[in-house]
Amino acid sequence: MLNRLYVAVVLAITLLGSSATNIVMTNDDGWATAQIRAEYAALKSAGYNVILSAPAVNKSGSSSFSTTPSVLTTACEFDTCAAGSPAYGTDASDPNIHYVNGYPVDAVKYGIKTYAPAAWGSAPALVVSGTNVGSQFFHALVSGTIGAACEAALEGIPSVAFSGASGSEVSYTTLATTTLASTISANIYSALAVKFTNALLANSGAILPAGITLNVNFAATTSCTSAASYKFVLTRISSISFSSDVTTCGTSRLPTESSAITKGCVATVSVMDASSKGDVSAANQAIVLAKLSPILSCL
Ligand SMILES: *[C@@H]1O[C@H](CO)[C@@H](O)[C@H](O)[C@H]1NC(C)=O
Repeated sequence: MLNRLYVAVVLAITLLGSSATNIVMTNDDGWATAQIRAEYAALKSAGYNVILSAPAVNKSGSSSFSTTPSVLTTACEFDTCAAGSPAYGTDASDPNIHYVNGYPVDAVKYGIKTYAPAAWGSAPALVVSGTNVGSQFFHALVSGTIGAACEAALEGIPSVAFSGASGSEVSYTTLATTTLASTISANIYSALAVKFTNALLANSGAILPAGITLNVNFAATTSCTSAASYKFVLTRISSISFSSDVTTCGTSRLPTESSAITKGCVATVSVMDASSKGDVSAANQAIVLAKLSPILSCL
C-alpha cells in the first residue's frame, strides 16, 4: 500500500515537473535591474522554469540592433561584473541568470539557442521581454524590449513584451527595501506579468500564431495599488487603420493602447506583427481575444 502510494506520488511529481513551461526572459534595461529580477523570481514562484538572458549594461532604445557580443570594456551595470569580463557571463549565485554583452536581440537569441538547450535540451516554449521600465507606445519601433520580443517571434518562439509606466532603472539589490516606490511597482508589474502568462498558457495548442508578438503596457502604479486593481484591455497600436479590427466590446474598432492607458488601472494588450511592429489582421486579433478572454475586460 505504502509502496503504491510512493509510486503514485513520484509519478505525480514527475508529471508536474515535466509539464512546467520553460521561459527565457530578457529586457533592454539590463540584466541587473530590479524589475527583471523581481519578475524572474515571480515567474519561478509561479512554477515556471526560467532562464534570464539579458544585456550586461543598459541598452534602452536599441530597437532590433544586433552585434557580435564582446568582452566588456566597462563594468556590467551596477558593477555586477568587472571591466574585462567575457562577452557571456552567469550570476555567481544563480546558474540560470546570465548576461550577454550585446543588444537585447543578441541576448534573447543566445538565451533561445544556447542557454535554453544547455539547461533543458530544447528551445523555450515562451519568451518574456521586460517588464521594461517606461511605457512603449510611440517608441515601440526603437524599444529594445520590443525588438527582443519580435526577434523571438521571428525565431519561431511565442513572445510577450511587457512595459510599465512606473519605476526606475535601479539595481536588483534595492528590492530588499520593500517600501521603495521602484520595489512596489516592480512587484505589482511582476504579479501582472504572472497573471498574463498564466492566462496565455492556459489553453492547449499553439500559444500564438506564427510571427506575432504581444505588446503589453501597464499603467502607472500611482493610484493602482495592487495587481488586482488592473484590468487587461485588448487594444491596437496605431490610430491609423484602413480595415476593421476584431469585434469585441460592441465595436470593430479597438481603442489605441496610448488612449486606453489613460483610462485608469489598465493593462493594454496589442497584437503586434513581429516584422513590421504594427497591427495584425482582425483574424489574428480574434485568436488572441479567444485565448485571453478570461482576463480581458472592456474599457
Ligand atoms: C538607459 O539608457 C537610456 C537610453 O540611452 C537612457 O535614457 C536612460 O537614462 C538610461 N538609464 C540609466 C539608468 O542610465
